[in-house]
Amino acid sequence: MSEFDATAAVNIEPTAPVPFSLLPDSSEVDENGELTIGGCNIAEIAAEYGTPVFVYDEQHLRSRCREAVASFGSEVAYAGKAFLCIAMAKLVNEEGMCLDVASAGELYTAIRAGVPGNRIVFHGNNKSVRELQMAREYGVGRIVVDSADEIDRLENLHSEDGQVVSVLLRVTPGIRAETHEFISTGQEDSKFGFGIKSGAASAAVDRAKASNAINLLGIHSHIGSQVFRIESFDKALVVVSDFFKALDLPELSIGGGLGVAYVEDDIAASISEWGAQTKDTCARLGITDVRILAEPGRAIAAQAAITVYTIGTFKSLPGIRNYAAVDGGFVDNIRPVLYGSEYTSFAPQRVLEPRPDRARIVGSHCESGDIIIREASLPQGLNVGDLIATPVTGAYGHGMGSNYNRMGRPPVVFVSNGEARLVVRGEMLEDLLRLDID
Ligand SMILES: Cc1ncc(COP(=O)(O)O)c(C=O)c1O
Repeated sequence: MSEFDATAAVNIEPTAPVPFSLLPDSSEVDENGELTIGGCNIAEIAAEYGTPVFVYDEQHLRSRCREAVASFGSEVAYAGKAFLCIAMAKLVNEEGMCLDVASAGELYTAIRAGVPGNRIVFHGNNKSVRELQMAREYGVGRIVVDSADEIDRLENLHSEDGQVVSVLLRVTPGIRAETHEFISTGQEDSKFGFGIKSGAASAAVDRAKASNAINLLGIHSHIGSQVFRIESFDKALVVVSDFFKALDLPELSIGGGLGVAYVEDDIAASISEWGAQTKDTCARLGITDVRILAEPGRAIAAQAAITVYTIGTFKSLPGIRNYAAVDGGFVDNIRPVLYGSEYTSFAPQRVLEPRPDRARIVGSHCESGDIIIREASLPQGLNVGDLIATPVTGAYGHGMGSNYNRMGRPPVVFVSNGEARLVVRGEMLEDLLRLDID
């Protein structure tokens, strides 16, 4: 018997249907009470492409890109680490954003998508000579230099071919953003960037200004990711502005990091609010006649997607909890394990129903920690074979995915105007063997 046993759960209280504020913009409910996104029925997408599957609302992505351009101007960059594939790189480029890449692989994706070099920003705290060469050959518009060793590498490469690159220097303002330790990057004790307090940032500026290999465009700081309190960005700007204003440089990047709502209680600012506040703060601090750049990733992609799973088995432990195991896990969403991140869940075919049942939603990997949602609310009496979905999985889901247990990463489907298109196919068994040599 695999039916859900609600009596196994403790502290049951009725819970409202999933709020539409957490679903992609074009989400609607059809006449059968089933979720559609971009005019496509989610259950039909699951039937066609299998589960798990990432479903992205293409118009949602496009509208967030436009909002970013309207808020920060045409040099604003999408942080590809949040979610990148060729289709995404093309979309970002079509919508007038630059693309921030942080590895040879991300750069290669941008190149294959035809993103012009001058629209690419290249990040990384330990870029190899090969990566820097690749960026120089493709004419990358901005290299965000993170260390003195990177300046050495750029100078060595310049001594071979005389090519000059445009650079931002990444500084750490000494501000700890209120977010998870692993994604807080602006504090002094960080592997990223040149510290302002220590004098390392000043020394790097002097060196870059004097270098024939470098055209120093500006300063970059990124305080962390999933930052809810936009005052944190202001605090960083206060520190960076004193340093920056003395340098007489044309660009200042505040990085990315704007937080998004994942669950019912989260409150997050919009990209427009973030942009308006940044402009006001810069004006107040006397940062004028300067291009203010930003690099949102999560705020563009996170709420654009849901992940759809099939329930494979239930386990009911009376007085303890219910488990609902789905056909994904670490492979598509490592964030709950890595950061204790919270998600909510719903049944795409019963989207307007209250969710009184409780279960721990777990994946199919061989680890007890393979938990997607610790305490999920679900519609009453779901069965094995039913679909459940987690919203707000468009950022750091597919991109952070793995092949643990030799499971294939799920496909990615973009939906728009009643049409679905596969933009990343799911990995099949043969894909998992493609690097093996027997
Ligand atoms: C340098 C830099 N820019 C931008 C981002 C994007 O952050 P988010 O996706 O939170 O906007 C990151 C994320 O780690 C980053 O390290």
